[in-house]
Amino acid sequence: MPTYCVIGTNRGLGLEFVRQLAASPDNTIIATVRPDADRTDLEKVVSPTTHILECDTASVPSVHIFSNKVARNVLAGADGPSTTKIDYLIVSAGVNGSPSDQDSLALNPVLLSEQMAVNVVGPAKVLEFLVDRKALSSSVRVINMSSGLGSVALTAESPARKYVGYSLTKAALNMLTVHQGHDIRARGLSQAVVVSMDPGWVKTRMGGEGAQIEAEVSIAGMLKVLHGLKDEDNVSFFGNNGERKPW
Ligand SMILES: NC(=O)c1ccc[n+]([C@@H]2O[C@H](COP(=O)([O-])OP(=O)(O)OC[C@H]3O[C@@H](n4cnc5c(N)ncnc54)[C@H](OP(=O)(O)O)[C@@H]3O)[C@@H](O)[C@H]2O)c1
Repeated sequence: MPTYCVIGTNRGLGLEFVRQLAASPDNTIIATVRPDADRTDLEKVVSPTTHILECDTASVPSVHIFSNKVARNVLAGADGPSTTKIDYLIVSAGVNGSPSDQDSLALNPVLLSEQMAVNVVGPAKVLEFLVDRKALSSSVRVINMSSGLGSVALTAESPARKYVGYSLTKAALNMLTVHQGHDIRARGLSQAVVVSMDPGWVKTRMGGEGAQIEAEVSIAGMLKVLHGLKDEDNVSFFGNNGERKPW
């Protein structure tokens, strides 16, 4: 009876994660949305064992309230604290507000700061507060949803560097994965595994109609990778079919 927590699920990749996970009645799912999000599509795919909670990852207080609700209302049994913990944490919420042709000599600091809040500080606080609330299993598997644009190695080789602000935040997210993978084990979750994943170029609002793959294919691939993660995969960067990506 695994418990999944998916952050950012009213549309896009997060919605498809919930759709595929909800197909199994054994899965308990914690699915988050922003307070003002349109939940219509999410409510069509959820299972009876899905809990929809509010979480705006750009707001530290919102993440704090969310983690308290997870610990008190979802994981705790009627008789008090329960042994139920989150087995899989998927942080999918993200934004790309960068113009595609913006280069590093014309960086918009306000836009960068907004993207950092959602793409880096949000994932950091989600994990921090869930660890603090003892909401994660000792062998929890965590995906930070990164991007090929966050790979310093791939960007260095690419003749077409684009979305500079977004790529900076995803590179920072990759560095966060490295720190979290070590820090979470030091906090006693001795078999925890934290990875970054590149979903590929996927047909969502962010990816656009011209993207290469359907969300269904990307998510099926990433769930296979997630379920196959071994302890020694901690602090790795994977593509949606399990190939290792360079940092
Ligand atoms: N699609 C691609 O080709 C692609 C490629 C590489 C990486 N990625 C990464 O994959 C992840 C999912 O992308 P996507 O394609 O599903 O994007 P999307 O279609 O634009 O959906 C983004 C999701 O993130 C949520 N979100 C945005 N800001 C949030 C906040 N402050 N708090 C909570 N949720 C928030 C959105 O909720 P609202 O509706 O409330 O805004 C929405 O559910 C992102 O991290 C993205 O960077 C995507």
